[in-house]
Amino acid sequence: MGLRRPFFIFDNVDGRHSLFLFKFTFKFYGMPLSIPDLSELHPRLQNEYQIEYMLGAGGSGIVYRALRRSTGEICAIKFLYRHRVPATRLAIDQVTPETSMVVPMEVYILRRLSHPNIVRLLDYFEDGHFYYVVTEFHGTKTVPKLPDVGVRQPSKGSMSSSDSMQSTDLFEFVETRGRLKESDAKHIMAQLIQAVAYLKSRNVFHLDLKDENVAIDEHMHVKLIDFGSALVIPDGQKPIGNFYGTSAYATPEYALHKVYRPEQNEIWCLGTMFYTMMLGNSPFSSATKIQERNLRWPADGVVSDVGLRMLKSMLSFDTHHRICMQALAASPYFHDVLDPADH
Ligand SMILES: Nc1ncnc2c1ncn2[C@@H]1O[C@H](COP(=O)(O)OP(=O)(O)OP(=O)(O)O)[C@@H](O)[C@H]1O
Ligand SMILES: [Mg+2]
Repeated sequence: MGLRRPFFIFDNVDGRHSLFLFKFTFKFYGMPLSIPDLSELHPRLQNEYQIEYMLGAGGSGIVYRALRRSTGEICAIKFLYRHRVPATRLAIDQVTPETSMVVPMEVYILRRLSHPNIVRLLDYFEDGHFYYVVTEFHGTKTVPKLPDVGVRQPSKGSMSSSDSMQSTDLFEFVETRGRLKESDAKHIMAQLIQAVAYLKSRNVFHLDLKDENVAIDEHMHVKLIDFGSALVIPDGQKPIGNFYGTSAYATPEYALHKVYRPEQNEIWCLGTMFYTMMLGNSPFSSATKIQERNLRWPADGVVSDVGLRMLKSMLSFDTHHRICMQALAASPYFHDVLDPADH
């Protein structure tokens, strides 16, 4: 597995620290941006939320954990840089019969979803700098030990499980624990399959399914997050060419021919997560390795025969042999772990 993502904790009790938070983050990530003063950002941010610390950062934005003052809920606020969201990732949303507004596709899609294994959209607003996407926080709720002084430096190597911060996504979960028991991997995968099957029933494809985009709590209850690459596609069997996801998770057909079928893509990505959970490392480190079809299967006895067969059918290089969504959702292998409490 790759290096851990950088991590920061901020003692954020007032706007002064928030401003420091922005300055520090922007500096660390080397973003060629002028640093907005907190007073330039949407007033709702300061009035309605108390930002706690950063959860993650990607190409399009930064995500902070925050407290929603009105309800006392813990939430995740994704700050999407306006200028990093291309026009193709925007959608016109009909807010009321009379008014419509342009919103990030992520917001358009999340507004239309309701599933126990998919993160819920709580709020959305925008200003000249950012689109703010507020979702429920899902993960271990343990309050991290705040440092005596304002900032804790990003960890250079692995963060041990004794660290005050608990894992919130599946990447961290596997990284701190190592490979999971097959029954645990199945339990997590069964929930993800339910979520992805639901998405398909709504003509939505996530298209960036990976362990970093799965939030997990201490009971191994999971929710899909990060709909930044998702699309509404009426026919998931129709080949498409635009790919917004993560190259190490791209399907072999995309890596080779730059075209893929959304449904087969989702199965492949679920397969890579299942592999990572059961074996403790990713099947491929890059798109090149996928093209080379360089995949090592576990030695005898590491996973059950039926588990290995399932893994191979999800990660079949030949799309004709890759299991389909319907068969996956109906598979007895995953069904025997799913009970109503898992949702
Ligand atoms: N609702 C949430 N609950 C818990 N953790 C979250 C939540 N949303 C995001 N996170 C954490 O923040 C990280 C980054 O969030 P997200 O995946 O949405 O953004 P991103 O990958 O930076 O975005 P993009 O891929 O669009 O550039 C996640 O991997 C996860 O660790
Ligand atoms: Mg992400």
